[in-house]
Amino acid sequence: MGKFEKKVVIVTGASSGIGEATAIDFAKQGAKLVITGRNKERLTAAAKKCKAAGAEVYEFIGDLADFKNLEKMIKESVKKYGGIDILINNAGFGDMKPIEHMDVETYDKLFQSNVRAPVFLCKYALPYLKKSKGCIVNVSSCAALGAMPNSVPYSMTKAALDHFTRGFSSECAPFGVRVNSINPAVVMTRFADNLGVSDEMKQKALQAFKVKQPLGFITSEQISEGILFLCASEMTTGVSLPIDGGLLHSTGMPADPK
Ligand SMILES: NC(=O)c1ccc[n+]([C@@H]2O[C@H](COP(=O)([O-])OP(=O)(O)OC[C@H]3O[C@@H](n4cnc5c(N)ncnc54)[C@H](OP(=O)(O)O)[C@@H]3O)[C@@H](O)[C@H]2O)c1
Repeated sequence: MGKFEKKVVIVTGASSGIGEATAIDFAKQGAKLVITGRNKERLTAAAKKCKAAGAEVYEFIGDLADFKNLEKMIKESVKKYGGIDILINNAGFGDMKPIEHMDVETYDKLFQSNVRAPVFLCKYALPYLKKSKGCIVNVSSCAALGAMPNSVPYSMTKAALDHFTRGFSSECAPFGVRVNSINPAVVMTRFADNLGVSDEMKQKALQAFKVKQPLGFITSEQISEGILFLCASEMTTGVSLPIDGGLLHSTGMPADPK
């Protein structure tokens, strides 16, 4: 019997990376899953892996930047399973350009996907989470916790998400519902490929993080471990938990002075 046996768990952005690893880990622990993504082929491949781990899986395909999909996805989840125990707001994307070159379409899409979607998914899921005394994990970023050039609007979305976590957790605690954030540093997923920057710029950023993140790049499975911990930790709410490979306290100086 897994820790999340028969729990109904929604993982957004499960067609890839951190979301896929998290869905598989919940599947291994006996959860019943709703997984979401836009890319049908990748979402179905992720569903297959969850089913192979023994889970019942419902796939929701849709763009969560499209407002009408938010209530629709929650309604379909409840129709399928009769309730919700856990919501993992993981879907999101980044952008890498200085403010000087920022365009309003990208700015709006960042806030729609990374802030508006999780906030309203929480709103629509809350009545069911109150019934189950369930919990929410918002996948934020270390970018929310410090200054990072060329990713300012992305960092702003994650800082907003962290503050939403704190405020909303205080609204939810009286109902026995917990809300936490997890804040990964650099994880090797499709995220970097989707940044829409030149390979040269991507390589420069990755080289910089090689030094600044001394424990090394993090795997999606290591982030999933943190997400499952936050779901299991019955007295933890309102926190932003960094999984940072040493990034936040790194000076970038070599540890060996010789
Ligand atoms: N990788 C990192 O270094 C890193 C660091 C800190 C935080 N994070 C955060 O971790 C989360 C997961 O990222 P990842 O690294 O696993 O990236 P990823 O491999 O690119 O996965 C992103 C997932 O989100 C989905 N998604 C993105 N925008 C969406 C939208 N508008 N509507 C519906 N689905 C959408 C994608 O779906 P489709 O592919 O099907 O379109 C995909 O399943 C994101 O919130 C990201 O900000 C990542």
